[in-house]
Amino acid sequence: MTASSTASTVAETFAEAYARRPSGVWHAPGRINLIGEHTDYNDGLVLPFAIAQGVSVAASRRDDDLLELRSLQAIESPAFVSLSALEPGSVSGWAAYPAGVLWALRNAGHPVGGISLLYDSDLPQGAGLSSSAALECATALAVNDLFGLGLPGLELARAAQRAENGFVGMPCGILDQSASMLCKEDHALLLDCRSGLSSQIPLALGAFTVLVIDTRAVHSLVDGEYASRRAACEEAARLLGVPALRDVKDLAGALAALPDPVLRRRVQHVVTENHRVEAVVGLLRAGAVAEVGALLTASHLSLRDQFEVSWPEADVAVATALAAGARGGRMVGGGFGGSVITLVPLDRVPQVREAVTSAFLSRGWAAPAYLTALPAPGARRLG
Ligand code: GLA
Repeated sequence: MTASSTASTVAETFAEAYARRPSGVWHAPGRINLIGEHTDYNDGLVLPFAIAQGVSVAASRRDDDLLELRSLQAIESPAFVSLSALEPGSVSGWAAYPAGVLWALRNAGHPVGGISLLYDSDLPQGAGLSSSAALECATALAVNDLFGLGLPGLELARAAQRAENGFVGMPCGILDQSASMLCKEDHALLLDCRSGLSSQIPLALGAFTVLVIDTRAVHSLVDGEYASRRAACEEAARLLGVPALRDVKDLAGALAALPDPVLRRRVQHVVTENHRVEAVVGLLRAGAVAEVGALLTASHLSLRDQFEVSWPEADVAVATALAAGARGGRMVGGGFGGSVITLVPLDRVPQVREAVTSAFLSRGWAAPAYLTALPAPGARRLG
């Protein structure tokens, strides 16, 4: 579906549902993280790009203090919430993400009043492509425009992150929301998660494509595993006497100083993953796309063996894709389910797909879904 057909569909459905035209339509994309996994909350580096799929929202201000939410994916259950009654735990399900954004913006003192919103999404949920961040960022952008807040993209991304941390209860970093808000077409976003400084890295893949394999193992990150990884990193930084694992300069020394083998593995991943982000940026700047593959695979092995967040379908997808001609591959996102990305020469895509599908079917798993990811624009107003 093109962006303009999405805009008119969602605007028309808004008009039917609310008996008036929306003031505008906004879109926020999902993301692929090329590399830099579990580095964001360690003040490190990430390198995501936005994808064409995302969340569109039609919206209008209201005269009262109500937040009215509908979704084309859940049209039977519109949510009405009084803005003054918003507090963590007061809204559940998908509506908690947009409600959390209103809560975060109002808590920061921004003059946000009643609003009616209607969402449409073509992002699979739980596929590790940041459907939650897209929902939050589309909301933040619509609210920013409708109430004239004038906040820049990074501030909106931070409000979306506060929504997820403080309202939904998922202690995520800033990766997904920044990617959705700040990415540009044909570029990856190199973001320093400590300073908030970012640069756009041209992503010309030439004879390669990024083939996304949705393993169909659905993940849920509002659970203990993500939080426990984050806590382990914070504990390691505390023991090492640094503000964050980003600041570990002497890896061998840090590993020798930590008695707990689990903490050592976590540190090993974070420190080497930051280096891999820098290495990939160097290769992209040099036009050496084929060589990026080995770093993707190294990232996957580190996430599997050191950070211990991979899952069986991801491991099989990566290994099978490599054997069928992919130059590299890795799990993306928080882990425990979702998608894998592979760097594949354009002429090997059919073989890779066929090999991965039959590897899944032969294990009795559902066939994976595939998506070709092209670096798309970040969040924007559509109409
Ligand atoms: C999830 C979180 C992000 C990030 C990744 C892992 O997607 O939302 O903040 O920590 O996991 O890189």
